[in-house]
Amino acid sequence: MNCKTIIHTALIAGGLVCSGAVCAETATAVMLANTCAGCHGTNGSSVGPSSPTIAGMSRDYFIESMDEYKSGERPSTIMTRIAKGYTEKEIELMADFFSKQAFIRRDQEHDQNLAMKGSKHHKRYCEKCHEDGGRSAEDDAGILAGQWMPYLTYTMDDYLSGRREMGKKMKKKCDLLMKERGEEGMKELIQFYGSLK
Ligand code: HEC
Ligand code: HEC
Repeated sequence: MNCKTIIHTALIAGGLVCSGAVCAETATAVMLANTCAGCHGTNGSSVGPSSPTIAGMSRDYFIESMDEYKSGERPSTIMTRIAKGYTEKEIELMADFFSKQAFIRRDQEHDQNLAMKGSKHHKRYCEKCHEDGGRSAEDDAGILAGQWMPYLTYTMDDYLSGRREMGKKMKKKCDLLMKERGEEGMKELIQFYGSLK
């Protein structure tokens, strides 16, 4: 295959159709996205467990996340260093690309009893914004269903300890969950997300 064919094949594999100048931009997006694949998996669906799947994220939430990593506002082990290497334009191109990819849910070992309890907590505390059992990317809130449990665990830890800032309304619900159900309730909730296919 020559270079043009390879790019074209990659675009089709990514479900992207384009022509002319748009095609050049799309090719750039695919090239940029490839540099993330080592951790976030092909087309953004991670093989886990500590790098989150970023496929299917809303465009706005993707850009916001990268900006917050860049500024150091959002805590990270590695992403601040990585995000600093990209321009706004490049981040927008990647946001377009990843938001169009399917979130592939992989099997995660989980405890079904805990997951069933977690399902109830989800409805009571989280479904309002993380709709469709946490599958929805609407409300720019990130996809929780099928996300890697270790990632969710340290993310919730970051939120609850105040290292990562959360919106007032989400904080209210998280505080209520912790008050009514404690650590165990959070564990059940994360098992629920991990159990979803
Ligand atoms: C060396 C591994 C690694 C590479 C390479 C990498 N990431 Fe990450 N990414 C992570 C980890 C780990 C996290 C969780 C935050 C942290 O600890 O830095 C993360 C988190 C994210 C998030 C937040 C996801 C969410 O659900 O909120 C986004 C967006 C993201 N990365 C985008 C990218 C993009 C775009 C690239 C390529 C330009 C990339 N990452 C390259 C490891 C990586
Ligand atoms: C009022 C709306 C709202 C409610 C209720 C809510 N969230 Fe969120 N959630 C958001 C928004 C918006 C974000 C995205 C950015 C942020 O604020 O950090 C988010 C982000 C997250 C993330 C980060 C996703 C990622 O990819 O890094 C997790 C995890 C999360 N919420 C879990 C929960 C849990 C668990 C509950 C229920 C106990 C909950 N949320 C309730 C609005 C909400």
